[in-house]
Amino acid sequence: MYAQSVLITGCNRGIGLELVKQLANKTEALFAGCRKPDAAKELLEIAECHKNISVLELDVTNEHSIQTAVKKVSSTVGKNGLNCLINNAGVTNKGESQIHTITSKGLRDLYEVNAVAPAMMVKAFLPLLKQASSTCGGDVMSVSRAAVLNVSSELSSIEKNIKAGVYGYRMSKIALNMLTMNLSIELKQHRILAVSLHPGWVKTDMGGKRARVKVFDSVEKLINVTVNFTETSNGLLYSWEGEILPW
Ligand SMILES: NC(=O)c1ccc[n+]([C@@H]2O[C@H](COP(=O)([O-])OP(=O)(O)OC[C@H]3O[C@@H](n4cnc5c(N)ncnc54)[C@H](OP(=O)(O)O)[C@@H]3O)[C@@H](O)[C@H]2O)c1
Repeated sequence: MYAQSVLITGCNRGIGLELVKQLANKTEALFAGCRKPDAAKELLEIAECHKNISVLELDVTNEHSIQTAVKKVSSTVGKNGLNCLINNAGVTNKGESQIHTITSKGLRDLYEVNAVAPAMMVKAFLPLLKQASSTCGGDVMSVSRAAVLNVSSELSSIEKNIKAGVYGYRMSKIALNMLTMNLSIELKQHRILAVSLHPGWVKTDMGGKRARVKVFDSVEKLINVTVNFTETSNGLLYSWEGEILPW
């Protein structure tokens, strides 16, 4: 078992959809968020075959949508709380890549989805995460106890940045990493992990056809890496292959 309950955002395609496929048999309650469930054909088909999957209408930039999701998750998990929140939904925008093409609106839009929304998701689901952690005995930290996993990117790493470019995306993901770091310090007392993840350069709509990693392989390794997280993993940026990347 990966964790008793897991909530993933952005599950209608790409890495989010693959996470649902691969975690379907490893959780008791899997909440798959997406903006338009009616149009999420493949996700609905998977949910049809797995009664533990609940497809949630969830636009992570809409606080009303987040609150509605909290109520639905809460009514299912009850006193057990939510063990693992995976902030996977994300956007990029080629127009925001170069210093001479960025726009203030474009940058704000990237921040809104990639950094502000994950923060608001954690704020909203924190009572359920705390609840899950408090119901576990001992003090061992793990994704099966309670965790926030933020899907970030190697492109967020200041130390690894030797090529410049990708301004907006890099800036928004580094803000996400600071959310991870802050949470890792503050939530440690509640035994809740907070970790940033780099899934590799993955063949999805975002990664494009030239990407090196198949979505199945990325997600399979991400699951293997995260399932082994302990207190020593808290507040770090991990690659899909288990490497700790510099901030
Ligand atoms: N692919 C890569 O090479 C790569 C590399 C490093 C990091 N990442 C990160 O991995 C994560 C997943 O990326 P991906 O490659 O799977 O991208 P993708 O195929 O473009 O999928 C992005 C997902 O995010 C959802 N999303 C966007 N805005 C949303 C919102 N406001 N509310 C809810 N969901 C929203 C999309 O839903 P809609 O269909 O409704 O738009 C879609 O399900 C992202 O955080 C990305 O930054 C990807």
